[in-house]
Amino acid sequence: MTDVVTAWTDDEGAAHARALFAEMFPDHRPDGVWSAPGRVNLIGEHTDYNGGLALPIALPHRTYVALRRRDDGAIRLISGRESGAWETSLDQIDPGAVSGWGAYPAGVAWALEQLGHAVGGFDAAVASCVPYGSGLSSSAALECAFAVAFAAAPGWTGPDAATDQGRVQLVTACIRAENEIAGANTGGMDQAASLRSQEGHALLLDCRDGSIRHIPFDLAAAGLELLVIDTKAEHSHVDGQYAQRRATCEAAAQTLEVATLREISPDRLDGALAALQTDEARKRVRHVVTEIGRVKQFVELLDSGRVREVGPLMDASHASLAEDYEVSCAELDVAVTAARAAGALGARMTGGGFGGSAIALIEAGTSTQVSAAVKLAFTEAGFGAPAFLTAIASRPAH
Ligand code: GLA
Repeated sequence: MTDVVTAWTDDEGAAHARALFAEMFPDHRPDGVWSAPGRVNLIGEHTDYNGGLALPIALPHRTYVALRRRDDGAIRLISGRESGAWETSLDQIDPGAVSGWGAYPAGVAWALEQLGHAVGGFDAAVASCVPYGSGLSSSAALECAFAVAFAAAPGWTGPDAATDQGRVQLVTACIRAENEIAGANTGGMDQAASLRSQEGHALLLDCRDGSIRHIPFDLAAAGLELLVIDTKAEHSHVDGQYAQRRATCEAAAQTLEVATLREISPDRLDGALAALQTDEARKRVRHVVTEIGRVKQFVELLDSGRVREVGPLMDASHASLAEDYEVSCAELDVAVTAARAAGALGARMTGGGFGGSAIALIEAGTSTQVSAAVKLAFTEAGFGAPAFLTAIASRPAH
């Protein structure tokens, strides 16, 4: 299969990060190398900030950070993806005070400090094979790799990354970094996926109380594969669309006098829709409530060993995201339609939308055929070439 984005091994990733560190900071050695994965969400989209359910897996594609602690509070960062160093110091970080890619890692240090942990400055080099701007959580992978690096730094008092409880605190710090310092008001699924997933399992995440359940997810055993189609239509969460969706949901919850839309059970949906003022609010709420229902059905199928039957739920999720939530785009629609026509059991956009990636559940061994069909459809539609990844449920940040 061509145009495939392969994942680095840990040795390759660490070597890339160390080489970059040596180039940028020739007089020092890093204390170590830490890494964290990107994710795809199987189902449960735009549910996290509504207290709902999501079902992501960690990708084999990871971001690697070679890091050295400093005692003086200075922060110096270099990335294989950006030209030039990004520099600030710990006491300069505040909401609205820093911008650019370094705001994500610097924000994590800031958030840990806000949460009462002692952290300091650092020099770090970042290398990543998580496609950037593709809806695969490259920013969460970046935050979470730094989070585990900070947690491991001797002399700093970070949360204990060896326990899930410690990882919950790291998730909180990463969310604050993204919301308050990087300025993207995202919901937290991506950071939980990167920090709390388990290899070979999907992560059932309950965003009402933060509880999780690891659900065995072995597609190979069922003769299946999960193909990720990176449409290359760039998406961003630091723009108005995502925030608007979130604001509409929060306003609807207020109108309905519930803490979050999670409280609207399917049998109350009609009544809730009738109580809302605008068609837009009704469509958004219908998506959230039905999507949470689809996560439950998806999990029931996994629990009873019927993974081959989840396709229609993926298709329904995509339709709901396209029509009710209005976060799909032409490239995503073409990708899922072409994948289904080429034999996928189900396909949907994954992540925030407005570009980014789609996932297709396919028979093992058919990825060449399905990706060729998607590429052809893209050419016919006049879009640039997409790229492809195989998603295997992988390890969390370490
Ligand atoms: C982005 C956000 C997540 C989540 C998804 C949509 O990935 O970062 O918090 O809201 O979109 O499900």
